[in-house]
Amino acid sequence: MREVGIGIAGFGVVGGGVLSILRQHAGDIEARLGGRIVVRRVALRDLEKERSIDVDPALLTTRLEDLLEDPGIQVVVELIGGVDQAFELVCGALQRGKHVVTANKALLAARGDEIFRLARARGVDVYYEAAVCGGVPIIRTLREALASDRITALHGIVNGTTNFILTAMAEKGEPIERALAEAQRLGYAEADPTLDVSGGDAAQKLCVLAQLAFGAALLPADVLTEGIMALKPEDFRWAREFGYALKLLAVARRCGPAEGAAPGAQDQLEARVHPAFIPAGSLLAGVRGAMNAVVLHSEALGASMLYGQGAGAMPTGSAVVSDIIDLTRNILAGSPGRVPLPPAEPLVSVRPHAEVRC
Ligand code: NDP
Ligand code: HSE
Repeated sequence: MREVGIGIAGFGVVGGGVLSILRQHAGDIEARLGGRIVVRRVALRDLEKERSIDVDPALLTTRLEDLLEDPGIQVVVELIGGVDQAFELVCGALQRGKHVVTANKALLAARGDEIFRLARARGVDVYYEAAVCGGVPIIRTLREALASDRITALHGIVNGTTNFILTAMAEKGEPIERALAEAQRLGYAEADPTLDVSGGDAAQKLCVLAQLAFGAALLPADVLTEGIMALKPEDFRWAREFGYALKLLAVARRCGPAEGAAPGAQDQLEARVHPAFIPAGSLLAGVRGAMNAVVLHSEALGASMLYGQGAGAMPTGSAVVSDIIDLTRNILAGSPGRVPLPPAEPLVSVRPHAEVRC
């Protein structure tokens, strides 16, 4: 049977989920692909740490270079998180003609542009379904299913940790610190959870979505961002009393050109992340725990919504493995790297914070 070799960098929450799924579903995956996905190396920092599943110790390495230098590895799966080392690893892989799968929205929001340019130049591809909304297939939906449509706005809940915390605060009156500790225990939170509670993680995801949905070169600093740390028990009491729920929303909306702009000027994009009161009977108000949901507004389809588990080992692992399968299918078919859909030049400009109204 033909084989494709992969190297996995990161054996934490998501890396563990990926290895479990590859093992549990190996028979189905092979039958579907007519080929085998072989894990050749797994990189981690601490060889002594206890792991969620057993892996042949001979596969383990603390050197990320081992994944780059192994000619048997055609796909590098980046699950270490953070920006700098991940950028080096991803670029190193692309330079050597290896495809990349990543779940790293921080990396893509900060340096996606350079990464996609390098991938195009090398004729290889970068897949990142797990980077936004965990297991919910929003990247494929924007990149493929809605490629014929024109997105006018999107809004939703894209951070599982904060939604888990807000649900616990609203329903059980739990203090924010206790709910956050539980979200960390369940593997939902980032290694640095301030990214979650500050709204930073949601802003990074909005940048990734904005590139696909609007062709916008949006950076996290362009997103008007407010987190959940200032919320008090009385905010939830008021919400309940007046028929609302409190949710951390990410919103991106295509507006017309800037006021006074020349005729034919680009549309602007308004982007924000903040807690919002939403009607208690709305679909988003019913999104509880670590679930995510995004409402898309597009000209031909109208409103549509994606919903599902936005964080955690197995849901996120399933999105990563679906990318590995997609790439493996292309490699086995001898297809070249897929041409990414987002345009090289931004289609919209970004509205400055001072002009954004919540
Ligand atoms: P973890 O902190 O659980 O795991 C990170 C792993 O990377 C660890 O195994 C760590 O090794 C390893 N690692 C870190 N730096 C290095 C390095 N320099 N060399 C070798 N190994 C290294 O993170 P997660 O699994 O939660 O997240 C991984 C990525 O997935 C992040 O980008 C995150 O944003 C993203 N993501 C996470 C989701 C989740 O629900 N957790 C959901 C969607 C995306 P060691 O174990 O030895 O410390
Ligand atoms: N920390 C992130 C969250 C992980 O809670 O949504 C999924 O991207």
